Amino acid sequence: MTHATARAATVEFDQVTKSYDARAAKAGTPGAVNDLSLAVPAGKICVLVGPSGCGKTTSLKMVNRLIEPTSGRIVLDGVDAATRDLTELRRGIGYVIQQTGLFPHQTIEDNVATVPRLLGWPKARQRERAEELLAVVGLEPAQYARRYPAQLSGGERQRVGVARALAADPPVMLMDEPFGAVDPIVREHLQNEFLRIQEQLAKTILFVTHDIDEAIKMGDLVAVMQDGGRLAQYGPPAEILAAPASDFVARFVGADRGLKRLSLTRVADIALSPAVTARVGTDAADARRRTLVDPFPYLLLLDADDRPLGWIDQDHIPGEGLLEARHVDSRSPLLDRRTTLKDALSMLLDDLVQAGVVVDRRGALLGLLTIEQVMAFMRDTAVEGAERSIEQGTGAHR
Ligand SMILES: Nc1ncnc2c1ncn2[C@@H]1O[C@H](COP(=O)(O)OP(=O)(O)OP(=O)(O)O)[C@@H](O)[C@H]1O
Ligand SMILES: [Mg+2]
Repeated sequence: MTHATARAATVEFDQVTKSYDARAAKAGTPGAVNDLSLAVPAGKICVLVGPSGCGKTTSLKMVNRLIEPTSGRIVLDGVDAATRDLTELRRGIGYVIQQTGLFPHQTIEDNVATVPRLLGWPKARQRERAEELLAVVGLEPAQYARRYPAQLSGGERQRVGVARALAADPPVMLMDEPFGAVDPIVREHLQNEFLRIQEQLAKTILFVTHDIDEAIKMGDLVAVMQDGGRLAQYGPPAEILAAPASDFVARFVGADRGLKRLSLTRVADIALSPAVTARVGTDAADARRRTLVDPFPYLLLLDADDRPLGWIDQDHIPGEGLLEARHVDSRSPLLDRRTTLKDALSMLLDDLVQAGVVVDRRGALLGLLTIEQVMAFMRDTAVEGAERSIEQGTGAHR
């Protein structure tokens, strides 16, 4: 085979232990990673998260055998990594290291094209690929391709590191704090951009961070690690937030885990409430009658295509004639189905309105989201989480 295939692979840690100090290990002193077992399904992002020194980088480096385990196996697509040819193994694994590790005497473009060059791609294709990937990570190729790493900021260098790891289209990616050196706004942008390309690439990704918010956002699965590379909990982010397996996990995810859970739920996931509505050009008296019998004292005025124009206070609805756009008193934030409950709540609180108006892609009304509904959602899932942790005997308050 001449180049890496884009197909994703499964990655499995099977009772992996790493002691840097062989003598200490013999004496029974725990090493950097202890008896780590976890399986990452093909095409998923698994985030390793935990405090500094807990063994995240060590765990990653055992996958591409920059570090060999003291015991246990790492299995890629059913094959023990230890039995694979090292060069061939590494070609199938993109690696973004914690401190970028670009080649200082090569241009950015040549850095990004490192693996394609090793694989013997034609020059033109190497350049094309490098430019495409620089654009993906938000570095304008015309501006950056010919520069050297020293002429970039730390955050820009990190983005080049991500582009370089993607260049050969490897089935597995190891990313060690890939967005650690960028400011929160660029970080958010890179996270979103990365999730967007992952939707198409569907690579198997091991992603290291010590930031629980980043873990929750990026991970299909989150592995919370504690000192000595011990797995404290492994599961989808929603499960870890709803039912932390130990006091350590509960403390690590933070007291605001209820709020964090809101960032995992989208408006589409909860049932919306209906609004009293009327279209422009329809009978005002009839709309007024319908609004008066509803507990919510506002009418939502829609245009001919059911797009919300705004609210009319029931006392301001004309007693006769037709409804017009100029009758609107106020507007509330428009939410779409992909808005997270956290963002929705924040918009509702900012605007001091009781209801957000949820619209579909064309802008037509779907229903209302009220602060009470968000609260009810939090209450219900908190109860579910508590019940689950009681069932599992893992309640945070034992
Ligand atoms: N080459 C080495 N020789 C000896 N000990 C090491 C070596 N590399 C790491 N360690 C130790 O192993 C433990 C785990 O280190 P590792 O780099 O895997 O942690 P980490 O979770 O990536 O931390 P951070 O979040 O700070 O990057 C630490 O106690 C560290 O001091
Ligand atoms: Mg590290």
